Amino acid sequence: MKTLALRREDAVRSDPPALYRPPAPVPTTAVRALLRGFVSRQRDLLSLMPQEAYRVMLAELGRTRRRIILVNDPALVRGLLGEEADRFPKNDLMVGALNPLVGDGVFVSSGQTWRRQRRMIDPAFSHMHVNRAFRGMEAGVAAFEARLDRLAETGAPFSLEKAMSHLTADIICRTIFSIPLESRQTHEVFDAFARFQDSVANVQIFRLWLGRPWARVRQPAKAVAAARLLRHHVGALIDQRIGAGGRLDADIAADVISARDPESGQRFSRDELIDQIGVFFLAGHETTAGALAWALFTLSQAPGAAERLRAEVEAVTGGGPIGFGHTKRLGFVRNVFRETLRLYPPLAFIPRVALEAGRIGGLAVPRGAMIMVSPWIMHRHLALWRNPDRFDPDRFAVERENDLVPNAYLPFGMGQRFCVGAAFATVESTLILARFLRRYEIEVLNAKSVRPVARLTTRSASGIEVRIRRL
Ligand code: HEM
Repeated sequence: MKTLALRREDAVRSDPPALYRPPAPVPTTAVRALLRGFVSRQRDLLSLMPQEAYRVMLAELGRTRRRIILVNDPALVRGLLGEEADRFPKNDLMVGALNPLVGDGVFVSSGQTWRRQRRMIDPAFSHMHVNRAFRGMEAGVAAFEARLDRLAETGAPFSLEKAMSHLTADIICRTIFSIPLESRQTHEVFDAFARFQDSVANVQIFRLWLGRPWARVRQPAKAVAAARLLRHHVGALIDQRIGAGGRLDADIAADVISARDPESGQRFSRDELIDQIGVFFLAGHETTAGALAWALFTLSQAPGAAERLRAEVEAVTGGGPIGFGHTKRLGFVRNVFRETLRLYPPLAFIPRVALEAGRIGGLAVPRGAMIMVSPWIMHRHLALWRNPDRFDPDRFAVERENDLVPNAYLPFGMGQRFCVGAAFATVESTLILARFLRRYEIEVLNAKSVRPVARLTTRSASGIEVRIRRL
């Protein structure tokens, strides 16, 4: 790796034993990291990141056919994702991979199309509407607890990641379409989604090394077929809602179907609705599920953390049900969630592409360069965090706020393309963590082999196998 700017020599990885260190690949030299990439069967982008990546502010990453520029400097990142966003749109590799599923939906679109979509979608995720969605979240958690109670009774082991995906998928169905995941149609949507995810995920590393900018990337036939099926089912669900006699519940689908562009007065076409609702399925459940699985795993390993969380829940709710208002007052639960998103950001990389030749900081950047902004790397950067590899939820406590480096924390992205569902995901996750911990004790059966890898979202390479017990 060539270092081109700002190296903060004073940064050291200190190791306070009192704080738990959750699993992560140990960064190594650039050459070893490259070798890992070639020989390891479990190759993934996280283990490929050399130790210099966690020290420099701006650098060219590796020797690739297409230049890859890693940007860690918070001020530069803020510019790239903010006022300069039109010069650095979403990366073509990512857009190409997701296109079969979400067309030109809000997650991948750019320019005027994106601006119009965002204007029309934002109201569905406003504070008021998240409050309304809370009922769907509660119903999803109640159904989940009924399933988990049976597992607790028998002591049967299960996959924490799968359980969390099922729960957040159910909540997304309930909040978008007001129907549970158990319905046949929604089940088909999620089966197709899982197939899509499995088949697109592992193709990208060689493309990063060898690919040319804007080269047409053929997606695996399985991924394309799964995306087609998913779009078919989402289309049918939308038709039921807009067709004769279709109900218009107060939910996200209703908001997006009835949304009008404040400038042109026009509504989304049917295809556009499928794109946008496809995005909500895509962006809105695997991300949250991954974060929740990592939070529960970390809480089960960090001494005293689960007990502290339970004590806060009891103190804030007085032992009663957890309401929407409580989720704001559960400060420690929220900080656990924030810290989990720092250590295991579900989207480890948010890549962009340089539309034209220019400069980033002191570095000349050719047209077509891949601009790598990585929440994973920035969140563990030695110059941006104290004890970056340690689990320390209190770093987000009000008293320590002044220690936080501005713009160094971006689990939900930053600037123009900031996550639409950030408030939704935070309320949902606070509720789930509080209810889960209050009801169950968790034992991780494969704690030693848990290791994060970057798939579509940040996951454990060998899953997280658990057993639970009712408290
Ligand atoms: C913990 C959970 C979540 C995380 C960590 C997360 C993370 C992100 C990130 C990093 C981006 C920006 C990507 C980029 O700039 O390239 C993003 C965008 C987006 N997210 Fe989320 N997300 C989460 C939950 C949700 C939920 C629940 C929804 C909706 C139901 C959602 C919908 C979206 C949409 C529509 C965008 C695209 C926004 C745009 O480009 O204008 N996300 N998310």
